Amino acid sequence: MKIAASILDIKEPKTEEVTKLSNLDIDYLHIDVMDGIFVENKTYGFEEFYNMTRFSNTPKDVHLMVSDVKKYIDEFKMLNPDNITFHYEAASDPLSVINYIHSLGIKVGMSIKPGTPVSEITDYLNYLDLVLVMSVEPGKGGQSFIDDSTRKIEELCTIRSNNNYKYVIEVDGGINDETIKKCSKADICVVGSFITKNNYEDSIRKLRDWFFFLD
Ligand code: DX5
Ligand code: ZN
Repeated sequence: MKIAASILDIKEPKTEEVTKLSNLDIDYLHIDVMDGIFVENKTYGFEEFYNMTRFSNTPKDVHLMVSDVKKYIDEFKMLNPDNITFHYEAASDPLSVINYIHSLGIKVGMSIKPGTPVSEITDYLNYLDLVLVMSVEPGKGGQSFIDDSTRKIEELCTIRSNNNYKYVIEVDGGINDETIKKCSKADICVVGSFITKNNYEDSIRKLRDWFFFLD
């Protein structure tokens, strides 16, 4: 399993801390973008994110929690991300968003909130590179893992193998060295406060210790 470290709650000085985190054993930097509309909180603008991540060569995994999806794609494409994930609940025409992100040569993820069943997005699964299962309500870090997420990850796993789909499954919210055990079928776990509120290296090691038993 891969680790995407969320920099949402990273401490000051942010550029130095992001650079330090990037040099550790993580697979992605997870960039949470909030607009104060789709979710209550609002994060920095593009320029601050650009500054914070400018010394990092770690692939960027952008998670847009915004209503005006197209506007934010046009900004965050400039970070050269590995993928951009948007929320199914925010898009009036999800297929056009998928096509637009692909036209930029960027991988596409679609995210579903805890209350949205997998059955609502089955029409899109064939076109996606990534499906992000939110295991907390989007909007802030430090919340508790919602147990029903395990069932959704497993459902997405079954649908993928039955149809030969190619998406990877990512899970985001409330993940630590205990709750990670409920996500064994996911391909990428997003980890925020468990890393950024503790010693980065120790936390990553604790997660990796568990992965060792998975394969
Ligand atoms: C929540 C964000 C998450 C969050 C994860 O809306 O999408 O990426 O930063 O933080 P923790 O791991 O603290 O739940
Ligand atoms: Zn996120």
